Amino acid sequence: ATSSEPYDTIVIGGGPGGYVAAIKAAQLGLRTACIEKRGSLGGTCLNVGCIPSKAMLNNSHLYHQAQHDFKKRGISIGEMSLDLPTMLQAKDQSVKELTKGIEGLFKKNKVDYIKGTASFSSSNRVSVKLNDGGETEVEAKNIIIATGSEVAPFPGGAIEIDEKTIVSSTGALELQEVPKKMVVIGGGIIGLELGSVWSRLGAEVTVIEFLGGIGGVGIDEEVAKSFQKLLAKQGLQFELNTKVLSAEKQSDGTVLVKTESAKGGSEKTFNANVVLVSVGRRPVTTGLNLDKIGVEVDNKGRVVVDDQYNTTVQGVKCIGDATFGPMLAHKAEEEGIAAAEFIKSGHGHVNYAVIPSVVYTHPEVSWVGKNEQELKAEGTQYKIGKFPFLANSRAKTNQDMEGFVKFLVEKDTDRILGVHIIGPNAGEMIASAALAMEYSASAEDIARTCHAHPTLSEAFKEAAMAAYEKPIHF
Ligand code: FAD
Ligand code: NAI
Repeated sequence: ATSSEPYDTIVIGGGPGGYVAAIKAAQLGLRTACIEKRGSLGGTCLNVGCIPSKAMLNNSHLYHQAQHDFKKRGISIGEMSLDLPTMLQAKDQSVKELTKGIEGLFKKNKVDYIKGTASFSSSNRVSVKLNDGGETEVEAKNIIIATGSEVAPFPGGAIEIDEKTIVSSTGALELQEVPKKMVVIGGGIIGLELGSVWSRLGAEVTVIEFLGGIGGVGIDEEVAKSFQKLLAKQGLQFELNTKVLSAEKQSDGTVLVKTESAKGGSEKTFNANVVLVSVGRRPVTTGLNLDKIGVEVDNKGRVVVDDQYNTTVQGVKCIGDATFGPMLAHKAEEEGIAAAEFIKSGHGHVNYAVIPSVVYTHPEVSWVGKNEQELKAEGTQYKIGKFPFLANSRAKTNQDMEGFVKFLVEKDTDRILGVHIIGPNAGEMIASAALAMEYSASAEDIARTCHAHPTLSEAFKEAAMAAYEKPIHF
């Protein structure tokens, strides 16, 4: 890239939001560059988020299953042991292949990949401190900020993350040995996924959560209760309605975690070999010179945008974790596509009412649309259709029967308002619910759609049957 040749579009950040926006813009015929400082593409998701966590979740599940579940299936494997270095290598290999894959996609789509740290020198010029040394400046009519998010520090600086004994998700994906005792601060998605990983590998895990339920924002309360019971059965311990005050390293190398009841008082302490701090993430916008060019940021650090991702400065857009909405990779990707389309044609679209959420534990938990507490709060009249995996033939043959599918449908019209699943393959199954909701389907539409037998998806169909009439098998 040279400063003399302006681009049509420059994307700052090569995460799921940024790399997808760059590829889409190039596919639409726009001359495009993507600036990424990390040294590898894919952002948080591919490097230290979705991908490495799912690699560890899958392999720790297999390990746990081999230890606790194979025998009853007639599989004897004799002595088995954990080879953690190989498990970590397998995770790193998935990350490497996928991040390299995006470089390949950039080449294929003719996106210029600029390795360095970007900051605005004006509203249409970006100066880049190159990773290999030196600086360059690039110009474009349209600039998309896709700088993502980072671990939110513990409020008040009461806990210092060293990524060895007091870790964020990044350190928790790199532990070189299984801790004897692990305390997880925050029972949101990161805490539950990574708490599960280390619990399955042998750690005694205690999750401390401020709220009265686990699973973070958006989870249906009935599902959350069931989820907690199932995780407790697997050995995770929960301290709900409990606020962590501090975590201090002791001279023997352990960490002392001090808590009080969420309402105040009743102090308690916990001792741990490793503490995972998973109390949320915050947008990354520092160093971009946003104030200099006049891009507004709200009090949570999110870049303020309108419904076409325009910031308060003309020609500058923002997508993904750096702006409003759930911090999810697929949400960032959808916005990346829409932002490129807005630039090219003035038309783009993301349906924020139909963004699925998945927790990749075992069983998985997934949902899309509204939950019961939201429907109650807004006074919507609704019906519930539920079907347990216990009554599903495939779940039974797989000996994996925990959980249920729950449909929430509008009382008068039967229109689907939300679907909540806890059970095997919930993360894949939720795609059908999202598709149905995109087409404004009714529960009857799904109930009258032929689903193959024997599949877990029949539980999905039967829950829809339960919502509009009656299921057959329960
Ligand atoms: P990011 O992925 O954060 O990418 C932003 C990129 O911008 C980064 O690579 C950064 O280096 C770069 N950057 C920042 N500033 C500059 C600058 N000045 N110059 C150049 N480059 C810059 N989401 C899911 O949907 N499913 C999951 O299973 C899931 N699992 C997760 C597990 C963990 C442990 C974590 C931490 C997150 C997980 N997420 C998951 C969330 C997901 O990772 C984010 O929502 C997603 O990565 C956001 O994409 P983004 O493109 O907005 O930002
Ligand atoms: P989160 O916001 O989901 O959960 C944080 C939890 O910590 C909340 O339940 C909160 O009540 C609790 N908490 C806060 N302060 C506390 C204190 N002092 N003591 C005890 N509890 C406290 O944040 P999390 O889990 O860090 O995840 C960050 C983001 O990453 C989420 O927005 C999520 O969308 C994304 N992510 C998505 C995944 C997926 O889609 N499978 C996987 C992992 C992360």
